[in-house]
Amino acid sequence: MSNIREKLAALKTSATDIIAAATDVKSLEEARLRFLGKKGALTAILKQMGTLSAEERPQIGAVANRAREHIEAALSDRLKDVKAAALQQSLKDERLDVTLPGKALPQGHFHPLNIVVEDLKEIFHGMGYTVVDGPEVECVKYVFDMLNTHEGHPAREPSDTFYIDDDTVLRTQTSSVQIRTMLETKPPIAIISPGRVYRVDESDATHSPVFHQCEGLVVGEDITFADLKGTLETFMKKLYGDSVRLRFRPHHFPYTEPSAEVDLSCFKCGGEGCSFCKGEGWLEMLGSGVVHPDVLRNCGIDPNKYTGFAFGIGLERIAMMRYAVDDIRLFYENDVRFLSQF
Ligand code: DAH
Repeated sequence: MSNIREKLAALKTSATDIIAAATDVKSLEEARLRFLGKKGALTAILKQMGTLSAEERPQIGAVANRAREHIEAALSDRLKDVKAAALQQSLKDERLDVTLPGKALPQGHFHPLNIVVEDLKEIFHGMGYTVVDGPEVECVKYVFDMLNTHEGHPAREPSDTFYIDDDTVLRTQTSSVQIRTMLETKPPIAIISPGRVYRVDESDATHSPVFHQCEGLVVGEDITFADLKGTLETFMKKLYGDSVRLRFRPHHFPYTEPSAEVDLSCFKCGGEGCSFCKGEGWLEMLGSGVVHPDVLRNCGIDPNKYTGFAFGIGLERIAMMRYAVDDIRLFYENDVRFLSQF
């Protein structure tokens, strides 16, 4: 009997040591099987109970039960500790520093031509204009006929204009939007219309078969050339700064009378003449004029009651001057090395 007691005591001691030394759930499970499992050490000892007398059996049974309870308690205490330690470790290992700065994502931005368009819209919105859109595939009627540009005019030649069919072209100018606007809306009118235009042209540093214009049109009572001058001056100063000066040069457009081309004092040399303005001191910026009475009449607007002014600006020109870009093709090649600079 004392032999079994000793074995139980030794079992308890060695189980306690091994459990105390276990550092993970797996080795605790191994210890449980080893000492308390069906084929474990305790079962093996209890198998010897048959050799005991009837009095000894309950006594040793009680000792064995206490040993089992002791080992179970040691296992469950240690399991708690091991799990808590594992949790602490994983919290430490997986710790996130939420104060670390995030990875910067590359940000998209406007194309330089669209930056110019957005600036124009903002300036003209501020002056009470509405922005309107017009089709790029357009009726000959709106691009030429109703703008006083009659058959035989050189601008209509297929050598200059892309024809879809006899009555349809890719618009060569945003001026067609003037006609659409005046047919749809009655005065007072104040609109701008930025968009793409097309001309048969070889592509080189200053020419492209597709480019952009912004049309402007104001129609109302008592609108004069002075209003055109004031408007363009305000607009150019907002775009290029207060020190720029404007020069109006007489010109001819079929849809305006009088017509003027407008130059801007060179913002590189201030008007003295430099390589940028080719010694002129002035840079040609846009075409403009007082809307021809026939054009108003074509759109059902009484020229005796209403007058108006109009202008058309090349947007590439504005962007090239503003960003010192010397080749128009850069705007269409979509080379990110170029585009990412804006
Ligand atoms: N359409 C002209 C061009 O493409 C620019 C222009 C001139 C527009 C005079 C106008 C204008 O509205 O009145 O060169």
